[in-house]
Amino acid sequence: MKLLFINGVNLNLTGKRETGVYGSKTLDEINKAIAAHFASDECEFYQSNCEGDICTKLQNAVCDGIILNAGAFTHYSYAIRDAIAAINIPVVEVHMSNVHAREEFRHNSVLSEVCRGVILGFGENSYILAGDSFKL
Ligand code: DQA
Repeated sequence: MKLLFINGVNLNLTGKRETGVYGSKTLDEINKAIAAHFASDECEFYQSNCEGDICTKLQNAVCDGIILNAGAFTHYSYAIRDAIAAINIPVVEVHMSNVHAREEFRHNSVLSEVCRGVILGFGENSYILAGDSFKL
């Protein structure tokens, strides 16, 4: 199975920003742990701070499932929402933090409606739980 893990805006700072919320592991360290968990699968990791680049990545994706943490884009990017709706690959929305226990603006996702499901609040394990969902 080929899984594509996409991280959006500011996720490149994971391990350095708001470590009380997102933990102290870097994105690279998290991706290595994910790759180890999915050792028998093919994993691709992509991160961008640019909304359009994430849309292009979604449009060009060739894989069985996409795990997407769009960061703050989650809360307002109709462009990413439309890109998800345009492709025929299932997408699982992921958040490391429990966004519902945080500021009000984080409670709404414009992506959830076009995603297969949502996993949130389990730190770096949110990515693994989301990837595992493609095996059910
Ligand atoms: C996040 C939650 C978002 O609200 C925030 O903007 C992020 C990270 C998470 O993984 O918990 O950048 O998606």
